[in-house]
Amino acid sequence: MDKRQQIRTELKQRRAEHSKTQCQSLSRQICTHIQTEKLFKNKSRFAFYYPVGNEVDLLELLYAAWSRGKQTFLPVLANFPKGNLWWIEHTDSNPMYLNRFGIPEPVHPARARRTKLRSLDLIFMPLLGFDASGNRMGMGGGFYDRSLAKCYRSNNSWHRPIKMGVAYSWQQVDSIPTEKWDIPLDAIATEKGITWFKS
Ligand SMILES: Nc1ncnc2c1ncn2[C@@H]1O[C@H](COP(=O)(O)OP(=O)(O)OP(=O)(O)O)[C@@H](O)[C@H]1O
Ligand SMILES: [Mg+2]
Repeated sequence: MDKRQQIRTELKQRRAEHSKTQCQSLSRQICTHIQTEKLFKNKSRFAFYYPVGNEVDLLELLYAAWSRGKQTFLPVLANFPKGNLWWIEHTDSNPMYLNRFGIPEPVHPARARRTKLRSLDLIFMPLLGFDASGNRMGMGGGFYDRSLAKCYRSNNSWHRPIKMGVAYSWQQVDSIPTEKWDIPLDAIATEKGITWFKS
């Protein structure tokens, strides 16, 4: 097993060892940290994700964003190009359905216009693991890496959304071996607070 695979397996085990109750309690702490950040108060367009399993649950923060009149977005599996995510605006009246992985997505027309990534202020990213340099390991589908590639790999650095990973502190590992396609984080929010990485 290569190092990356080894870390992935270890992190999946760690996640399974924590109860739903523990995760919910830590998730609330994470929401509070983000909610008290100046950034959350000042910015207006946030991309969330719908939590599955033991992923950090930011739904409380999503509701707080609505009550402050902010615009919120959720990822949906794109038909084209395959393996990509599109971000669709999500409001409190928007019905949801389950995608092929059983993850809720906002109902949207087949020809819905995707949200331009550069129009977002911040993207919250779920993850399996992270390290002190801001490297991120997801669930292995490459969905986030693929979807963010164009925006972050181009030379045009004009307005890029902040990429904030969201995790429990026990998801941190010493070092994540990266591949050329991996997109690193700008910041990580855990129950201990928010850490910014040098770009
Ligand atoms: N920009 C890209 N273009 C094409 N394929 C990609 C790109 N980024 C990642 N992939 C493919 O996705 C696969 C999974 O990547 P990786 O192991 O980094 O997933 P991950 O970071 O855990 O997942 P995610 O990005 O969904 O959180 C890789 O085998 C890689 O070939
Ligand atoms: Mg990756």
